[in-house]
Formats: sequence, structure tokens, C-alpha cells
Amino acid sequence: MKRIAVLVSGGGTNLQALIDAQGSVLKSGKITLVVANNANAYALERAKKAGIETSVVLKKECGSQAAFEERLKEVLTEHQIDIIVLAGFMTILTENFTNCYPKRILNVHPSLIPSFCGEGFYGLRVHQAALDYGVKVTGATVHFVNEIPDGGEIIAQKAVCIEDGDTPETLQRRVMEQAEWVLLPQAAEKVCKELL
Ligand code: GAR
Repeated sequence: MKRIAVLVSGGGTNLQALIDAQGSVLKSGKITLVVANNANAYALERAKKAGIETSVVLKKECGSQAAFEERLKEVLTEHQIDIIVLAGFMTILTENFTNCYPKRILNVHPSLIPSFCGEGFYGLRVHQAALDYGVKVTGATVHFVNEIPDGGEIIAQKAVCIEDGDTPETLQRRVMEQAEWVLLPQAAEKVCKELL
């Protein structure tokens, strides 16, 4: 089985979807490490409950983006990680990091790329932008990560309808339930299986 690291910053519902998919949808990979860039991320509790090793890497303790990325690489190497999944990891990684893992880093983004993506589009801001624009359909995308924010090759997408009266919060929840939590485990399985 391929060894998966999941990188998180917050609540970790996408991490939970991956944990819950282990042994069913996710058969060719095993989550062996969860790394957070925020010591208070609830995702760390989810990992601990599932018996998964955790690590916290803080940019401010590392001193610079370059040192932060070097520390991340060290932790991933120590754990012999094959595949990295960014699941609500709210920091941009530069080419110094992404070039080390070509087609080995996946990200889930809460819109249909190329809409509402790139620098500054994360979390609820993405859903606010979709509502402000007035689109009637949005969704989620899982893609490979390269040096361009949200610019790597698309692996999977799923559309979700916007409903009258939606707020960023109600839309976020629907996109997670109908798209992100379904797509991410499927995409992780596809990538792991192809590498086996
Ligand atoms: C998810 O909606 C994810 O798609 C989004 O943040 C949320 C994290 O939730 N990611 C981005 O916006 C990345 N640009 P979670 O911590 O509950 O998985």
C-alpha cells in the first residue's frame, strides 16, 4: 500500500472522509501521517482518534517559507511518504516544495476550477465569490499540485447546484457533502492504485 500524508489546517472534515474511506473506497493507500500547520487544528484530534501519527510544523517557528518547506520535507521523508493530500491546508507551497513531488500532491478545492480559484480563494471566500457572481452551479475539484496555485492537472470534478437563499455556510456544507467528501477518497485511491 502507498503511504499517504494528509496536510491540514482546520476542522479536518476532508481528513475524516479519507479516514472513513480506508478499507472501502481507499484500498491502495494508508494514511500514515497527518501534518498540521496550526497546533489547534481539530483535524489533529480526528487523526489521534483514528490512531494516526501527527506532526505540527509552524511557519513562524521555522522562520521563513523556505525553512518551513524544508521542515515539511524532512517530516515526510522520515515517514517514507509516497502521496501527499492537501485537505484544507491553508498555505501556498512554492516550487521548492512542489517540484520535489511531481504528480504526488493532491489538493481539494471547493469550486469548479478554473472558476473562483488561485491566490486568495480559500474556505468560505470561495463560496462567497460564487454567490456574489451569481453562478447557479458550483462544485469541487481535486487536482495535482504544482507551483501555480490551483493550477495543476485536474483529477476529478463534481458539480453542485446553488439554491435560493444559500449563504456561504450552507453552500460550503452542500459542496462538502455532495462533492468533496466523495471525490477526495476516490481521487486518492485512483492515484495510489496507479502508483502500485
Ligand atoms: C474545504 O472546503 C476545502 O475544500 C477548502 O477548505 C475546506 C477545509 O475543510 N480548501 C480550500 O479552500 C483550499 N484552497 P476541512 O478542514 O473540514 O476539510
